[in-house]
Amino acid sequence: MCGIVGYNGELDAKEILLKGLEKLEYRGYDSAGIAVRNEEGVTVFKEKGRIADLRGSVDLNVSADIGIGHTRWATHGVPNKLNAHPHQSTSGRFTLVHNGVIENYHLLQKAYLKGIQMQSDTDTEVIVQLVDLFAKEGLSTVEAFRKTLSLLHGSYALALLDQEDEDTIYVAKNKSPLLVGVGAGFNVVASDAMAMLQVTDQFIELRDKEVVLVHKDNVEITTLDGRPVERKPFKAELDASDIEKGTYPHYMLKEMDEQPGVVRKIVQEYSNSLGELTIDDNILEAIKEADRIYIIAAGTSYHAGLVGKQYFEKLARIPVEVHISSEFGYNMPLLSEKPLFIFITQSGETADSRQVLVKVKELNYPALTITNVPGSTLSREADYTLLLHAGPEIAVASTKAYVAQVAVLAIAAYVTGKSLGKGEDFDLKHELGIVANGIQTIVDSKNELEQVAEDYLKIARNAFFIGRNLDFCVSVEGALKLKEISYIQAEGFAGGELKHGTIALIEEGTPVFALATQEQVALNIRGNVKEVVARGANACIISMEGLNEEGDRLVIPKVHPLLTPLVSVVPLQLISYYAALHRRCDVDKPRNLAKSVTVE
Ligand code: M6R
Repeated sequence: MCGIVGYNGELDAKEILLKGLEKLEYRGYDSAGIAVRNEEGVTVFKEKGRIADLRGSVDLNVSADIGIGHTRWATHGVPNKLNAHPHQSTSGRFTLVHNGVIENYHLLQKAYLKGIQMQSDTDTEVIVQLVDLFAKEGLSTVEAFRKTLSLLHGSYALALLDQEDEDTIYVAKNKSPLLVGVGAGFNVVASDAMAMLQVTDQFIELRDKEVVLVHKDNVEITTLDGRPVERKPFKAELDASDIEKGTYPHYMLKEMDEQPGVVRKIVQEYSNSLGELTIDDNILEAIKEADRIYIIAAGTSYHAGLVGKQYFEKLARIPVEVHISSEFGYNMPLLSEKPLFIFITQSGETADSRQVLVKVKELNYPALTITNVPGSTLSREADYTLLLHAGPEIAVASTKAYVAQVAVLAIAAYVTGKSLGKGEDFDLKHELGIVANGIQTIVDSKNELEQVAEDYLKIARNAFFIGRNLDFCVSVEGALKLKEISYIQAEGFAGGELKHGTIALIEEGTPVFALATQEQVALNIRGNVKEVVARGANACIISMEGLNEEGDRLVIPKVHPLLTPLVSVVPLQLISYYAALHRRCDVDKPRNLAKSVTVE
């Protein structure tokens, strides 16, 4: 989703901003722009399309040491050059980039900006025009900025330049992520530390509704009503090599290959000095006290939550409901007496999940966030955090984060079950080692999986994924992976449900991927496969050692029956990857999608 960068220092701002925007490309965008200021004023460059297109339009002769930049994921107004950021006030004095959505922009426009001819269809332009209006009425820039912020309803991360001020980027945020990076003789602004790791690893976290002035030599933070705030920088624990592709053609491929290592790392991170799996005592107590767990998540994280439900119910005997965050917040079910909310979110910034967290905290219920990003909004605002330790996930399609989410959920449920003296008795740590080896075997079989993609999906218009029990949870994730990167219409179904309507869509050659890793339903799913094959489907059965039969296309290594999702998802990820490659799709940056979905 939209990304912001800003630089105020001594070097050429253009190149630092462009490089920063390249690091934010993974978030998803459809246009981009930068604005730089020098003695001659502010110059804006913007383009529809990729940063490479923007680079081509930047005048290399314009040199400046202060500037802001933006990648836009369209919300208000189609993706075109006019709607791309930065936006300028009509007078040209103020220039602004914005992430988020201003809900009352129309009302503000009517109330304050009647005589002003808007140049774009965006909500953002209203903000910059308001600052200009209040400045014209006699307020200083910071006062005009504050007054504007006090009128805004919605989410925003903002960086503003004033043509008449050579040394300040005016910054503020509400609900949308934004950091200030600090250095010697320069300071920067970024939606994500990754964008500015090129110049610093020291960042200051900003809180909602603070007003921040980023000068070359210092950073002034105040509350909206002007009280000074002191906050020390933290070191971003990111290795620059984590965010490079290395020799891989795509981040997604690199991240799938990292999955065995991620499982091993999680086992290590969640082991105590005796080598036993453990989680923080406070978190353990919070889970044990709950009479019901509500898992809240979106997309792939929601699919991990479906698996997590089974873990908490089977291993700890605690009832669980799993909810899509965008639905839950506006249609809350009747809650139990002592609920615990678990938010699963790779990025820790998903606006749909955050709005639920805000409501949950207003109701004073305990909340635990399971996230890959320490210090992210959902981590900071929840009572407790469990980290995924998966390393940065750059590809829009989530792979290693899903595996990490399922592994962490398994550990949390297992440790709780042990502590409560309930659940199944097995050695999870040992079993996760077997899982890591199993995933390794699959990522080492790329040629075979590429062939499966070719055989089943080369000319497919649609595809179905079926499974029962835990295999159903993986089916929906497999379908999401395929559709988001290859644009093949795909649906995941409970195997038994297909015949209640959807089987009408099966025709000669329709690909159906069927998972058969759950012993108690293996025969049933094979029955469902027969039903679709009888109607012409091209069925690809993916079974597990010990449950395999002749004719199965893929057989995954044997793992503990509760842990099959960690392994069976991997061939589905790789098949989707190769299907997308065959169709020449932009695997890492699929159309219309954003990595971090920071608007509701
Ligand atoms: O950062 P989150 O885990 O909260 O993101 C939720 C979804 O937007 C995300 O899982 C999305 O579905 C993935 N791109 C799917 O691969």
